[in-house]
Amino acid sequence: MKKTVKDLNWSGKTAVMRCDFNVPLDGDRITDDIRIQAALPTIRYLIENGAAIVLMSHLGRPKGEPKPEFSLAPVANRLSELLGREVKFVASDAVVDDEVRAAAKALKAGDVMLIENVRYRKEEEKNDPGFAKDLSELGDVFVQEAFGTSHRAHASTTGIADYIPAVSGFLIEKELKFLGEAVNNPQRPFAAIMGGAKVKDKIPVITNLLDKVDILIIGGGMAYTFFKAQGYSIGKSLLDEEGLELAADILKKAEAKGVRFMLPVDVVAADEFANDSPHDVYPADSIPDDRMGLDIGPETVKLYGDALRTAKTVVWNGPMGVFEMDTFAAGTKAIAEILAEIDAVTVIGGGDSAAAVAKFGLADKMTHISTGGGASLEFLEGRALPGIEVIEDK
Ligand code: 3PG
Repeated sequence: MKKTVKDLNWSGKTAVMRCDFNVPLDGDRITDDIRIQAALPTIRYLIENGAAIVLMSHLGRPKGEPKPEFSLAPVANRLSELLGREVKFVASDAVVDDEVRAAAKALKAGDVMLIENVRYRKEEEKNDPGFAKDLSELGDVFVQEAFGTSHRAHASTTGIADYIPAVSGFLIEKELKFLGEAVNNPQRPFAAIMGGAKVKDKIPVITNLLDKVDILIIGGGMAYTFFKAQGYSIGKSLLDEEGLELAADILKKAEAKGVRFMLPVDVVAADEFANDSPHDVYPADSIPDDRMGLDIGPETVKLYGDALRTAKTVVWNGPMGVFEMDTFAAGTKAIAEILAEIDAVTVIGGGDSAAAVAKFGLADKMTHISTGGGASLEFLEGRALPGIEVIEDK
């Protein structure tokens, strides 16, 4: 068990708290603030328990240089609104300088400040000890709350823990509980749904899950590589050449392990990758040469639904089709609806699947939606996440 903010007495202390405020922006308007909302319980707990708080995060990939379009200023405004108190944004292109140090020192119990995007400094992604020390000196205790960035060993996610004690916030605690229990101690039958484009990207997670699941369901762009590996003609559908051999290997492994490995039996294939493209439903093994598969078909939805209704735990990572285009969203939507209604623990990996569930208005029907895209994937691969490793054990 990892130490959490609840294991410390905060009176008179300053928390240096790493969040993942890497939120989508349209200009300076935040289009989805879920990651900010997710950090609020820990911030509120610290305020109520007498801590002062220095918040830090990255936003986007400014590649070690100050770039105004990646400033955290909009996040400070949104946080102030959500908390109903001022979150002082102490902006410095150097991220930490004398003014920032002085502001952190002047904080009183319950005060909250935010520093500028840590990726304005190239030392951040290099996990530079000097920069990590500078960050650590802004407070007394490191609070790790950036689950979405916990797969990165950077100065603000791991290096800082070399200098001050590290505990987790409630978001990390929740992510570890739901993802960890689903993968390591699932109620059975345990089903995983894997989607996304490239087999190669998903090999480690599929390989890890093959040892754990009872049912493995495949959808999305990578299904066509599996079809090809079985000798089907896939027309103009996406083919991950590099993944072909890997797909064949996975099919063999699944059989050897007795996992029920499910591939689409029909697909929606279109002339072009466009929402208004002419399209039809075809059996999976007869996609016409001039068409590309962009969604799973209705027979597949039925088959997958029957399998999922038997499951007691479901982990979902990756959409079933091009759900961003309404014409090819039906398969992903149907799967989200099935997960919303079944009596099972449903855990949604971050990134695209989380976006899909939100798009269909079903977010509150899932047991847990991870705030980490890459991080939840690495967790499901069974890898140790460096930003979690540094949190002290109880
Ligand atoms: C994410 O959005 O997945 C995290 O914030 C990590 O961002 P990164 O891939 O730029 O490190």
